[in-house]
Amino acid sequence: MELMDAIRARRSIRVFSDRSVDRETVDRLIDASTYAPSRFNVQPWHFHVAMGEARARVAEVMALTTAYLDEYIDVLGPDGMEHAARFYADLGGAPVIIGISAKHVEDPTEWLDDTIAVGAALQNFLLAVVDQGLSACSLTAPHWIRDKLLEVFEISEGFDIMALIVLGYGDETPWDKSRHTDVATYLK
Ligand SMILES: Cc1cc2nc3c(=O)[nH]c(=O)nc-3n(C[C@H](O)[C@H](O)[C@H](O)COP(=O)(O)O)c2cc1C
Repeated sequence: MELMDAIRARRSIRVFSDRSVDRETVDRLIDASTYAPSRFNVQPWHFHVAMGEARARVAEVMALTTAYLDEYIDVLGPDGMEHAARFYADLGGAPVIIGISAKHVEDPTEWLDDTIAVGAALQNFLLAVVDQGLSACSLTAPHWIRDKLLEVFEISEGFDIMALIVLGYGDETPWDKSRHTDVATYLK
């Protein structure tokens, strides 16, 4: 797929079919992530992949987030809340759940750099997902249960969980989301 087409086609998908994803496919997506830029090429990301029984353990922990969704009522509205509650209850049935961690660094500039780099790796992953005919959604909302996620993903002390990705074969058509166009200023 052409890159510009993949960029435009990428959407967050939150309902998945029961078709499984093989490990080689996940490896290819992670490999694409590793080509992202990072400060001094530190490559701060690590991917914690939960499939099969591990996926069930992570999904059980993630279901705890439904208790916190009320915080989003003003942003999501009643329909969005219903969709979110269904999604978080079992992550839309996604067969693969991935946590991305990074070593925590105290220096705020370096931490910002590493956060940006993880975002770049995440976007590489999401674009490769489109290229390979799969679907995904990236999440940070589960910050409410951060400690439990660190535990279930077996993330070492001194590392932070930066984002989650749910991955599988999509089974929904996302509603249109407009894009802001007034986002650039050309200096005179
Ligand atoms: C850093 C980040 C955090 C996100 N966190 C969540 C989340 O916690 N739950 C969720 O359902 N979607 C989450 N999303 C997906 C956004 O809701 C989605 O990207 C946005 O609404 C635009 O829709 P699109 O991805 O289909 O273009 C997140 C996306 C990003 C980049």
